[in-house]
Amino acid sequence: MKSLPANNSEWLIKKIIKKGGTISFYDYMDLVLNDPINGYYGSGKANLGSRGDFVTSSSMSDDFAFLLSKQIEEWLIQIKSKLNFDEKLCFLEFGSGDGSFMSAFLKYLSVNNKKILKKVCFIIIEPNEGMIKKQQMKLEKYLKLGFDISWSNLKELEDKSLNVVILANEVLDALPVERIINLNGKIHRQGVSIDNETGRLIFKEISITKELEKSIAFAKEKLDIHIPPKYAPERWTTEWHIDNKNWLKAIYEKINNGILLIIDYAKEAKRYYSLTNNDGTLISYKNQRIVENFFAYPGNCDLTSHICIETLVFDSENLGFETVGVVKQGEALLSLGLAERLFQIQNELKNDVSKALSRREALLRLVDPICLGDFKWLVFSKFENKKTKINSICIR
Ligand SMILES: C[S@@+](CC[C@H](N)C(=O)[O-])C[C@H]1O[C@@H](n2cnc3c(N)ncnc32)[C@H](O)[C@@H]1O
Repeated sequence: MKSLPANNSEWLIKKIIKKGGTISFYDYMDLVLNDPINGYYGSGKANLGSRGDFVTSSSMSDDFAFLLSKQIEEWLIQIKSKLNFDEKLCFLEFGSGDGSFMSAFLKYLSVNNKKILKKVCFIIIEPNEGMIKKQQMKLEKYLKLGFDISWSNLKELEDKSLNVVILANEVLDALPVERIINLNGKIHRQGVSIDNETGRLIFKEISITKELEKSIAFAKEKLDIHIPPKYAPERWTTEWHIDNKNWLKAIYEKINNGILLIIDYAKEAKRYYSLTNNDGTLISYKNQRIVENFFAYPGNCDLTSHICIETLVFDSENLGFETVGVVKQGEALLSLGLAERLFQIQNELKNDVSKALSRREALLRLVDPICLGDFKWLVFSKFENKKTKINSICIR
């Protein structure tokens, strides 16, 4: 990735200068996304949906949530059947964005399963105040009705307190990553600095940390992942998800019995860390378009990277999670009844062709292999009784 001219924001320059003139890419990504005043999510500027900067499956229409809700309901019922009667059941969502999924899930249960609705508490884990405000607005109706909805962080929850279904849809792709670059046969980190002459943001190579070195060596030893790959050209670049392991560990410790569903852009290691993928997977969106130069609008657009399937599965299993399955979103939604839903919409909206067409288009985007259909659903479980098996409609 070249250091293209950048449209700097004063706030960011000041922060970089305060930190000595150069910051790691990890810190850059953290600031532009999570800074409480200027960050894209931190400030609540993030604009999701078809009229915003980018769509997530839940922000397009309630149809995605309707199909996924069936699966979550089914998992909650199965978990409940394995509990003592006084143990509380939870649905926990990480990074709820504008609250679209949680709101649609509550609507689904209100219509389809009032019995389970009364037995479940709903928790959102969201570090960004700006997004919490959006979520509270979206969920206002349910809060007023006295539904058991709360915002929390993992530290506040007691260890092994959760009998739970956990959802993280497009959250891991928003966690800051380090950028790794191959220079003279050695790996370095890509940092972000300020050009003395133009005052613009530029990449600047900085040394690798011990923690990163250890993490990369571990992946080589356990998964045969080579960073850089053999014969990598000069400036081959990738990103490294330094926070995933600790994120999984923090969740694992809180679960008594439960299912963790991660939905995200994901690649197999052999495609991720390959010679042809020589610039990683980072991508930035604004107004439904890819922004090639992600220094262009710091704090005013999304910045996201794919996750690596094998490292995530390995880290989860290493902690003690069982992998229930990994499936493409398109296949998962078809198993959950997407075709029937399509048919139902066409019948229900016979007299409103334009609405029917837009719902149909949104549904098809969810399964389109070059769109959201290529997302992966990674399902993990943890049960007190290790022999417990769970049925999942989404994995056939
Ligand atoms: C792309 S949005 C996800 C949208 C949402 N899940 C949906 O289905 O539309 C990313 C969300 O993750 C949140 N986030 C960022 N870092 C997080 C973290 N460490 N833990 C939980 N949420 C986080 C962001 O504030 C934002 O709400």
